[in-house]
Amino acid sequence: METAPADSSLEPVAVRVRRMRFDLDAAPRYWHSDSPFLTHHFTAMSLFFPGGERFFIDSVRHFEKDLADPVLRGQVKAFVAQEGQHSHHHRVYDRLMSRSGVPVDRYEGWVDGLLRFMRRWIPAKAQLALTITLEHFTAVFADLLLTDDQITEGMHPKVRELWLWHAVEETEHKAVAFDVYQQVCGSYWLRAFMMARVIIGFPIGILFFHFLLMIGDRKAFGVRDIARGLRIVWGPGGFFPSALRGLLVFFRRDFHPWQKDNRNLIDDWSEQHPAVAS
Ligand SMILES: [Fe+2]
Ligand SMILES: [Fe+2]
Repeated sequence: METAPADSSLEPVAVRVRRMRFDLDAAPRYWHSDSPFLTHHFTAMSLFFPGGERFFIDSVRHFEKDLADPVLRGQVKAFVAQEGQHSHHHRVYDRLMSRSGVPVDRYEGWVDGLLRFMRRWIPAKAQLALTITLEHFTAVFADLLLTDDQITEGMHPKVRELWLWHAVEETEHKAVAFDVYQQVCGSYWLRAFMMARVIIGFPIGILFFHFLLMIGDRKAFGVRDIARGLRIVWGPGGFFPSALRGLLVFFRRDFHPWQKDNRNLIDDWSEQHPAVAS
């Protein structure tokens, strides 16, 4: 399925559905740089994915019947299939992390409870606005994962495969939910309002789970590990500060996800994974 870039002179980006297998059992307990801090940071993000991806799917599918454009309807189908795979594989990953004593079911249940509240109490267009906001987060995070070696170089290769595959597919479909939103709603103020909440709330949510994971694994506490992890994740030039500039462009009135044309990252990954590239 094709996702049209904002610049019409560019070739459309294909959204491909891949059936992936990951041998995560081969990964050690602290699979990122032998670091509890960095491993738990990524697990804290992953806890949002099983429920979050299902929320994205449902919020987009709600408007599928209102889409006149057959191309966009096709893109939605590919988006749903990709996000369904992400939800599945992150659920598997989260279960693996339970070997470190992480109460995965409880934490995922909290995320599900929050999303149930959203489904029940906020209108469908606001749910879609929340989805495009979080999709922009995942697109910005994906770009960093695919470009900043500082973040990925210490990952165990088997787990790295999972995160980089997810990053590639988030890049591929980064405009699908946004294009649906523009067709069925298009309100600038609704999406800006949502981003104003999420740009604070989502990092706090990640920090919350990260804190719980570290506290629950306090045998692994090490001052040097924490200091190094803080620098990589939160320090100047680190993961979140680097993401901030990319996140803020969402507040532009004329924003479109393909204004940042990073399709070369998809091509690079595809060349390295020819068996699953299409
Ligand atoms: Fe995803
Ligand atoms: Fe996504």
